[in-house]
Amino acid sequence: MRTFRDWLSPIVFFSNNLISLAGVVVVTAAAVTWLVFLPITLRSGSVHPYVGIVVYLLLPGIFIGGLLLIPLGIYLRRRGMRKRGELPAHFEPIDPRNPELRKLFGFIAVTTFLNIVIASQLSYSSVRYMETPNFCGATCHVMKPEFAAYEVSAHSKVECVGCHVGPGASGFMRAKANGVRQVVHIVLNTYPRPIPEPLERLRPATETCESCHARRRFFGDRMRDLASYGTDEQNTLTHTVLMMHLGTGGPHSSGVHGAHLGEGVTLRYYASDDVRQNIPYVEYTSGGKMTVFAAPGAKPDPTKLRAMQCIDCHNRPAHTFQLPERAIDRAMSFGDISPTLPFAKKQGLEIVKQTYATGQEAGAKIPAAFEGYYRKTYPEIYAQRRDEVASSAKALLSIYQHNVFPEMKITWGTYPNNLGHTDFNGCFRCHDEQHASSDGKTITQDCSACHNVVASDEKNPKALVDLGLSPGAGK
Ligand code: HEC
Ligand code: HEC
Ligand code: HEC
Ligand code: HEC
Ligand code: HEC
Repeated sequence: MRTFRDWLSPIVFFSNNLISLAGVVVVTAAAVTWLVFLPITLRSGSVHPYVGIVVYLLLPGIFIGGLLLIPLGIYLRRRGMRKRGELPAHFEPIDPRNPELRKLFGFIAVTTFLNIVIASQLSYSSVRYMETPNFCGATCHVMKPEFAAYEVSAHSKVECVGCHVGPGASGFMRAKANGVRQVVHIVLNTYPRPIPEPLERLRPATETCESCHARRRFFGDRMRDLASYGTDEQNTLTHTVLMMHLGTGGPHSSGVHGAHLGEGVTLRYYASDDVRQNIPYVEYTSGGKMTVFAAPGAKPDPTKLRAMQCIDCHNRPAHTFQLPERAIDRAMSFGDISPTLPFAKKQGLEIVKQTYATGQEAGAKIPAAFEGYYRKTYPEIYAQRRDEVASSAKALLSIYQHNVFPEMKITWGTYPNNLGHTDFNGCFRCHDEQHASSDGKTITQDCSACHNVVASDEKNPKALVDLGLSPGAGK
């Protein structure tokens, strides 16, 4: 009877071929790299999906590919020898004296050693790199729009994975699955443009926002000075001054934050669309009493109620895309677009709102159009302040490049911002005096519930003067 050893010895003999040995190299390399990555992915709570792709998809794939090479090489060598009539009649038995076996083990030992040396150089920092915004935003061109907006946000130092990858094992596996799906989409070029808002899949705000912003500290009142330039020749600067009632925390919570997230308050709502712009139904519990506010004809799906959290209002905390008016106001208040160039606001707006087929086309046409306007209409100003016109034109292009991405089908206002009510529905998704309770109470639209409008488009608001703030270019 043939023993296992008898059976193994021809395999050892035939495995001594280039293809099988290459398979051995691949298998050990994949295995060693996998082992190096594994503790890192298990240790840190938030791992970038692409690390997961490497660990759970790419390396196992390479490993199996290497494994398949080994029998392939054996098969080919055996067939070749048989064709040439070189098949040995007898194979060396499997024991330490077998030269083929010693060669094989020696080879595996050397490759494993070399792989460990190489893989250990694949240091922690390269894995960390994959978790950085740079990798998420800059390496992956699909995320370019978010990265561009993120760089100039209040959260430009909060890593993407901090908000986007769920905690614990389930969030981790889900991110892996998502990451894999994303890469497949990118390879097949079938990813959605624009990328939809992932509200469903975001980490709950209690684990993200609230790890830095304490809920009990609800920030009292906050003054906002919204500066805006006119479309007249002088780009006349006016101010809207709001006193925002953000409120207090604790048992007597009030104001914007307190009303929705204060102690003993829960607010659940139903949205009839994926991006949550239509909210026909709200359940509001405060002080142990629940009130239902429903818009006329509301048909809520009770399985789809969502508890309100920070990101229902602050839905663009990190990558806020701007509207052209506001972006230009901001650039003008920084002096990036010169507020003393006649009609700078009006011209800038017109140019930046045009449709350009590609980012490249915009890159050529926007500065040319802005400079062209001054060359033609104000030749004297153009001659004297050429650099100022050119740098303003560049700033205008930069506004476009941070907010419009034709390749991703992102244009002005593609992603609504829910913090407010003038640009998008925002607060007025609920605060529209249409959502009524059974006893006829509505969700208020009383302006002063949320803010006092201290000044509305005034050139020189008294309030700012009284506070000793020179009504300069606000923010
Ligand atoms: C402070 C938390 C936070 C950080 C940090 C953050 N995001 Fe987001 N991200 C969100 C929220 C909230 C949404 C959902 C937006 C919505 O519902 O309108 C979102 C949505 C997205 C979307 C879907 C498309 C869109 O714009 O709505 C992409 C893509 C995205 N983020 C990528 C990134 C990238 C890349 C980074 C790092 C450069 C990043 N995010 C950093 C909170 C964050
Ligand atoms: C890692 C800590 C961290 C996390 C997580 C975080 N923030 Fe912040 N946030 C900050 C810091 C620090 C600032 C102040 C930045 C500044 O003033 O430039 C800030 C500022 C803000 C501001 C004021 C922005 C402004 O323009 O004045 C808002 C609103 C805000 N965060 C909301 C959120 C929300 C909503 C989330 C969750 C989606 C969140 N933050 C997650 C640290 C964090
Ligand atoms: C009902 C909508 C809503 C919810 C929910 C909400 N906020 Fe706000 N938040 C606002 C508004 C409105 C402002 C004021 C914006 C302004 O001043 O322009 C604000 C301002 C802030 C600021 C800036 C405060 C300052 O002093 O500059 C921070 C930080 C902040 N919110 C964090 C949070 C966090 C964290 C949560 C979740 C625990 C949260 N918000 C939930 C509406 C909301
Ligand atoms: C999902 C629906 C919904 C959204 C969106 C929403 N709110 Fe509310 N809000 C409510 C409900 C419900 C109440 C409680 C109404 C009541 O008790 O009469 C409320 C109460 C308030 C109150 C207290 C009003 C009072 O009379 O004391 C303030 C202030 C407020 N909201 C501000 C805001 C701001 C600012 C935004 C946008 C950034 C906003 N809300 C977005 C549902 C919403
Ligand atoms: C449910 C709360 C709420 C109610 C009610 C409300 N506002 Fe506002 N309002 C906001 C928030 C939030 C902002 C955004 C502040 C910011 O830009 O950060 C805002 C912004 C504004 C702005 C500044 C717009 C700009 O240029 O950016 C004006 C003006 C304004 N509100 C007027 C009103 C008037 C008038 C009413 C009464 C009809 C009213 N609001 C009712 C919450 C409210």
